[in-house]
Amino acid sequence: MLKMESLSLDITNGSGDVSILKNIDLELENEKFYALTGPNGGGKTSLARVIMGIYKNTRGKLYLDDTDITDFNITERAKAGISYAFQNPPRFKGLKVRDLLKISANNGDDTAYARLRAVGLCPQDYLDRECDNSLSGGEVKRIELATVLSRHSKVIIYDEPEAGVDLWSFEKLLNLIKKYHSRGGVTSIVITHHEKVLSLADEIILMAEGEIKERGNRDRMWNILQGDFRCRWQQNCGGDEDELECYRQ
Ligand SMILES: Nc1ncnc2c1ncn2[C@@H]1O[C@H](COP(=O)(O)OP(=O)(O)OP(=O)(O)O)[C@@H](O)[C@H]1O
Ligand SMILES: [Mg+2]
Repeated sequence: MLKMESLSLDITNGSGDVSILKNIDLELENEKFYALTGPNGGGKTSLARVIMGIYKNTRGKLYLDDTDITDFNITERAKAGISYAFQNPPRFKGLKVRDLLKISANNGDDTAYARLRAVGLCPQDYLDRECDNSLSGGEVKRIELATVLSRHSKVIIYDEPEAGVDLWSFEKLLNLIKKYHSRGGVTSIVITHHEKVLSLADEIILMAEGEIKERGNRDRMWNILQGDFRCRWQQNCGGDEDELECYRQ
């Protein structure tokens, strides 16, 4: 179980202290498939970063299976079984894809070929390429997914796996995420704006303004999300039919 208690994050930027996460209380059950969604800037990535230890929370506690991991650093959290696939994966100049996959695996397995193939990349073309800016956005997302799926994890947070991936391939990558989840032993949290992911989740969590606004099963949340986008559409566009589709996003 991943449990957050009054988790808060304040960040100091040019205009002073900004409250990014506000008293997040959230309990996630083992082996469930969660979708975390909500408007841009709502705090989803920040929450993922706090869970992974990339951002240090300002207040509150975080527990993994009853162990208090609030003071664990990134490496300790990774060892405890938390993995995070970035929204915008970092590039590593000078590091080959082959080496990145080797470093990522925490279970001694060396099946880089199979992992690359699974995310739709031909190993011969990619294993000796550098993980630098020469890779396209979609290629970097796939390599990132291959690295995360090469680990044994208790909790995996996928931050917008759909971002930059073409529509034809995304369905395959989503199947891969689902297949990995179905093997058991892992809690999956997919941060997403994609209808297909929402439709697969055991539970949907809606986050906005740095708070958890709602959570629940697909059917209940679907109605709430539909109501939410209609509300924003009415407020911002006066219900103009031409603008409806863009408010569905
Ligand atoms: N390091 C930082 N410094 C200042 N502000 C930040 C920082 N990190 C995040 N924020 C702000 O916190 C808010 C939440 O950002 P976050 O990236 O968590 O949103 P999100 O829900 O992931 O959005 P999106 O759907 O666009 O990915 C935004 O207003 C963002 O500008
Ligand atoms: Mg984000």
